[in-house]
Amino acid sequence: MTHGGSQWLNGKPPTIKDFSVNLNPLGTPKFLEELIQEAVISGAYKYYPDNYKELKKKIAEIYNVSEELIGVFNGASEAIFLLNDYGVIEPNFSEYKRSWSYFAEESEKDFIFKLQGKKIIVSNPNNPTGSRISLEEIVEFLSNGGELVIDESFADISSVERTLKLTDEFDKLLVISTFTKSLAIPGLRIGFTFGKKSNELESKAPPWRVNTIVYYAIANVDSKEISKFFHESKREVEQIREKMISSLNVKTYKSYAPYILAKFPTSVRKINEKLTSLGYKIRDCSDFVGLNEFYGRIAVRSDYKGLFVALDNLLEHGN
Ligand SMILES: Cc1ncc(COP(=O)(O)O)c(C=O)c1O
Repeated sequence: MTHGGSQWLNGKPPTIKDFSVNLNPLGTPKFLEELIQEAVISGAYKYYPDNYKELKKKIAEIYNVSEELIGVFNGASEAIFLLNDYGVIEPNFSEYKRSWSYFAEESEKDFIFKLQGKKIIVSNPNNPTGSRISLEEIVEFLSNGGELVIDESFADISSVERTLKLTDEFDKLLVISTFTKSLAIPGLRIGFTFGKKSNELESKAPPWRVNTIVYYAIANVDSKEISKFFHESKREVEQIREKMISSLNVKTYKSYAPYILAKFPTSVRKINEKLTSLGYKIRDCSDFVGLNEFYGRIAVRSDYKGLFVALDNLLEHGN
């Protein structure tokens, strides 16, 4: 399984400023950290999780959807792993199992994703380009009988319209999401699905797949606090992202996500070799179908200035 991110060292997490991983730039909210600590102190890890009823109830409350449509998983990636093959519009998240694929149209400033075929999986906003698909396009595809899995893993903190409400109307729509990105908790592993297919997908998943630390924290969180946090995060992402785009001296693409796709004049592998020695890393996108060694993805973070100085030096003087 490939993702951005740096290696752990001697069993400890990396300390570099890692712009290759896209998490909420506001970090894990304090109210959630307190609940995680409470879960550890109360010994929640000494118990098996139950049937996830309280967890699903809370997710239903946060997103205002019916509990029966929700499935819970060990991260969005577990739900993705359990799916069959789908058509994929490239470039897209590499973990989707592809039966066939076609390319988005790359314009000067954007990637345009058009839904085609009968059975498609797509990320919205798209990883790695940051572009988005409109609600009208999605509704049209579903109304014409298309089967769609839409991965909204970044949607809570992105400028895109969510499709959760459409799962009532369209049986062939499955929405995948996660708290990994929005609450900056990749180590806790909590993903979920919305749609009539959620039950079927859960029946293929192993039992006890969501650990009791994250179960405790989410089941006991105040849903209004989460909604407020997502709202603030979205605004913060938008502000930082636009500042980053205007001060980055390489070609960038329009982004609605907490990351920016850029095209560099030299290979990102070589850029990363230098950056690593300075304590930074960006995502080399050469392994995304349809991109190459010159594309790099940069996470939206408020501490971007040091990275940009390093990039400017490197691109101007090669050091
Ligand atoms: C588009 C997309 N979907 C899903 C995932 C996986 O999320 P999780 O950590 O919840 O498994 C990622 C992780 O990078 C992603 O980029």
